[in-house]
Amino acid sequence: MGALGQIGSELTPKLRSIYGEDNVIASDIRTPNYSRTNEGRFEIHDCMDIKKTASIVKKHKIGLIYNLPAILSATAEKYPQRAFEINLLGLYNTLEVAREYKCAVFNPSTIGVFGDTTPKKNTPQDTIMRPSTMYGVTKVSGELLGDYYYSRYNVDVRGVRFPGIISSDTLPGGGTTDYAVEIFYKALKKKKYTSYLKAGTYLDMMYMPDAIKATINLMEIESAHLKHRNAFNVASMCFDVEELAAEIRKHIPEFILSYKIDPVRQKIADSWPDGLDDSEARDQWNWEPSYNLESMTADMLSKLKSKLWH
Ligand SMILES: NC(=O)c1ccc[n+]([C@@H]2O[C@H](COP(=O)([O-])OP(=O)(O)OC[C@H]3O[C@@H](n4cnc5c(N)ncnc54)[C@H](O)[C@@H]3O)[C@@H](O)[C@H]2O)c1
Repeated sequence: MGALGQIGSELTPKLRSIYGEDNVIASDIRTPNYSRTNEGRFEIHDCMDIKKTASIVKKHKIGLIYNLPAILSATAEKYPQRAFEINLLGLYNTLEVAREYKCAVFNPSTIGVFGDTTPKKNTPQDTIMRPSTMYGVTKVSGELLGDYYYSRYNVDVRGVRFPGIISSDTLPGGGTTDYAVEIFYKALKKKKYTSYLKAGTYLDMMYMPDAIKATINLMEIESAHLKHRNAFNVASMCFDVEELAAEIRKHIPEFILSYKIDPVRQKIADSWPDGLDDSEARDQWNWEPSYNLESMTADMLSKLKSKLWH
């Protein structure tokens, strides 16, 4: 579900390559308009329509639902009511169907579950979560709902707290960390970028291949290995816009960074951690990222160069 978004459109072909083309049914509220997801089986589906969710699960004998529909942090501040519906009521529908048809569920959470009172550095797995955004409120509630459906109904709900995701293939969908993708396009096309976040705003980020790896590895691990289940901290790199720009300058020395701060996204970013402690994910299901800032930047620039100019 939500298969045409930033994560879904890269997760879907990867799942198909592992489990077989016919064994992965993609769905989204939108019609696919690009080839990769379009190639396989697809259902148009609104996650608010619980009857349709149930009929798709029944029709295709679904055993595992990737619940990806969401309104991301910055957009959720524009449309909080819609975010509440999609992020929380949509998840509730998915969990109800999973309960009835005995499906497992992957439900991604986010670093947005943390707030001003959360320890900022090396943020623990289990800590204070008092987010001030609608995105955070819905995602903390979603984590708790996932735990409840596991303990009460034995629905195998798992998830990670994704940081900002960086991808050369897909554009982000309205989050606070979108700058870390936009900056690469502007660096290659214009050799300059205007940041909406201040220098010194450190945030966790992850390269898409690691996000896909985390998702698949967590869902494949035997249940007995998991002490937590839902909402694992996962980390791979943490930087501010200055550090990212310095890394880009190693490849594009004339790159210029300037600032025009967006108060809404700055406020959200200020309430998020400066770096997560992901030792529980490493211990319980062997989480280990493959990319750091240096290798991600080199790979992004080389992939985008061939995409933009060929
Ligand atoms: N991308 C990130 O940086 C990031 C970071 C942390 C957590 N996450 C989480 O990962 C998940 C996927 O995020 P994403 O970046 O792919 O989001 P996205 O915004 O790129 O994609 C969401 C998809 O959901 C679809 N959708 C919206 N409303 C729908 C509805 N009513 N029914 C069915 N589909 C609907 C949209 O068409 C879109 O294709 C979300 O739960 C998000 O909170 C993402």
